Amino acid sequence: MEATTFVLFGATGDLAKRKIYPALYNLYVDQKLPQSFSVIGLGRRELSDETFQANVEQSLRMFSRREAKDPVVLKNFVRAFRYSVLDVGRKEDYLKLLKLIEQQEAELRMEPNRLFYLSVGPEFFETIAANIQESGLGSANGWKRLVIEKPFGHDLQSARDLNRNLSKAFTEEEIFRIDHYLGKPMVQKLEVLQQSHPVLQALWGNHSMANVQITANEIVGVEERAGYYDHVGALRDMFQNHMLQLLMMLTIQLPNNSTSENVRFNKKQVMDSLEALNKEDVRSHVVRGQYGAGTIQGKSVVGYTSEPNIAANSQNDTFIAAKLQIANDAWRDVPFYIRTGKRMKDKSTRIVIEFKEPFVQAQSNDEDLTPNLIVFEINPNEGISLQFNTRDPQQQREFRPIHIDFHERGDNVPEAYENLIGDALHGDSTFFAHWDEVELSWQWVQPILDAYEENLVPLHRYEAGTYGPAESDELLAKDGFHWWFDD
Ligand code: BG6
Repeated sequence: MEATTFVLFGATGDLAKRKIYPALYNLYVDQKLPQSFSVIGLGRRELSDETFQANVEQSLRMFSRREAKDPVVLKNFVRAFRYSVLDVGRKEDYLKLLKLIEQQEAELRMEPNRLFYLSVGPEFFETIAANIQESGLGSANGWKRLVIEKPFGHDLQSARDLNRNLSKAFTEEEIFRIDHYLGKPMVQKLEVLQQSHPVLQALWGNHSMANVQITANEIVGVEERAGYYDHVGALRDMFQNHMLQLLMMLTIQLPNNSTSENVRFNKKQVMDSLEALNKEDVRSHVVRGQYGAGTIQGKSVVGYTSEPNIAANSQNDTFIAAKLQIANDAWRDVPFYIRTGKRMKDKSTRIVIEFKEPFVQAQSNDEDLTPNLIVFEINPNEGISLQFNTRDPQQQREFRPIHIDFHERGDNVPEAYENLIGDALHGDSTFFAHWDEVELSWQWVQPILDAYEENLVPLHRYEAGTYGPAESDELLAKDGFHWWFDD
């Protein structure tokens, strides 16, 4: 792998400590970092290199998937870390940074390949990108890349503005927009599974599937993020990005040995085929919810509007369920039901595919027969299970469901950030959000944002510790279906 300087904006922040340093460390232990590699951490606070390195070590001890105990391994790893003070708006700080990077590159005889990682609030994205360009940090002879965290915009217009401004300093090929759901190992497996398994390949699409359900339930509430979350809600925080990405990854149709260009092109096609809602359709296709007080796993929790720093009359959404349809040959007439919410009964991200059952319907009189299902469990456990009907050996006239389960063991599974940072270092953008699909996602979501804004959609309260408002069940019941695994 090519020599790289990893320039991290927001080096003293929470994400860096919890995710980025552990990911780099695990890549290092697995020998997946470039031979010549250096990290320059940037933050507003003054820190010596030694203190910075000690902080990084500390974060590894707390958050790394692999044990961070061996002092020699740790020393060798943190040796590559330097720190520099930077105020994002101060041009002199970028010039100082340029000097430091050039000095390091000369000392270590490294090619000037620079990866700029913005682990900072979105209000700083454009200023940083512009200053990288103006200062000359981005004009060395090697490659440059920009890795950027969500949120990418607040609505369609702001996302377009942000993209236009970033494009003044970086090309689309140089921008790696993180959506950490795309780094989850099971999500990365979806395309391979579907392409490489003849059974799955044969079943993929509207000839066999009755409906698809994509769920991301969370137990946590707003936590300490009121300032952010109360302006964003479930629609922007989870649905526009993570949930629509899951939909795309499940429904793209790729040629064998597909490239990142194929992935990008096919995801765009899915989004182009997604039936648009207009403001008036939103009411019949979308359920908006907000949690009230309740009990989760034996613990009472307060309702959203009683959370610290949330206004008592907040209309913010903490739950969304929606019905979507893809109008192309493969998926026409298969309803996709997508839901995500906070303060739900359990933590689970999964995709459930329910099959049509011509064989069983023809042969069985049993009205309650369980349909055939495939379940992809994404989080917190990783697995695939099949549920299908077979003849009951005792009662030959009856059918009964059997289950085949495969589960990945937790400690073998790399974390999303390891996969994504490894890919960004390689310059592979397969599992990043490309502009086309980000723009189309915002475009699809915009009428819902407008309908919320104009209060055209009721805000349903649901009790914490449940699976959301009853209206979410009705969304499926209207079509003769129900959410699977709500017990
Ligand atoms: C983040 C959201 O992107 O994803 C959070 O901002 C949410 O609100 C989190 O809790 C969920 O991620 P995961 O990996 O725990 O499902």
